[in-house]
Amino acid sequence: MTWLITGGAGYIGAHVARAMAGAGEKVVVLDDLSAAVPARLPSDVPLVTGSTLDATRLSEVLTEYGVTGVVHLAARKQVGESVAEPTRYYRENIGGLANLLDAMAASDVRRLLFSSSAAVYGNPEVDLITEDTPCAPVNPYGETKLAGEWLVRAAGRAHGISTACLRYFNVARAPRRRNSRTPACSTSCR
Ligand SMILES: NC(=O)c1ccc[n+]([C@@H]2O[C@H](COP(=O)([O-])OP(=O)(O)OC[C@H]3O[C@@H](n4cnc5c(N)ncnc54)[C@H](O)[C@@H]3O)[C@@H](O)[C@H]2O)c1
Repeated sequence: MTWLITGGAGYIGAHVARAMAGAGEKVVVLDDLSAAVPARLPSDVPLVTGSTLDATRLSEVLTEYGVTGVVHLAARKQVGESVAEPTRYYRENIGGLANLLDAMAASDVRRLLFSSSAAVYGNPEVDLITEDTPCAPVNPYGETKLAGEWLVRAAGRAHGISTACLRYFNVARAPRRRNSRTPACSTSCR
């Protein structure tokens, strides 16, 4: 089985690619290099330059590499930029995801892990955020992640794709104290 990692030459993606390859999984990375550092990737991980906005390229990669599962990280992620350019964020984060789901359904790829974000929660007035905390994003970036989860869930049901969504909190920060207020990650979708 081969995993496609979209955005795999980014900050999180390179760690995912390295860990999966190190665990013996076959992986291929698709990245448009807009925010990438390709040198982060191990030399034995193939890097395909391309965008999730290019539906044809997506289908080619799924077929050429015999992809059977996808880790979808490719997205724009700057909150301030999303406020200034909301249409771009919806087009790239949601449009790219829709292209990916269509390509997966057409190529019979039935596993998807979606990078959501704790930004789906907005600014909840609780001490502890759990998966049951209501989602109320406060910027277009968080909105695209919440809408992305809905799209993943709907397409998963429609096409028989097994899905999971990870709501990351900030992945780069000082070591967490015991009894920290928030978990590092929560899951949703299924
Ligand atoms: N870094 C965090 O703390 C954090 C927190 C929550 C969620 N996330 C999510 O995790 C994912 C990865 O985050 P990151 O910090 O590694 O970001 P990053 O910007 O370092 O990596 C994203 C990668 O995706 C690529 N990319 C962007 N748009 C693309 C497109 N349309 N097609 C192909 N490639 C594209 C970029 O070139 C980059 O290499 C994102 O979806 C982000 O929203 C990150």
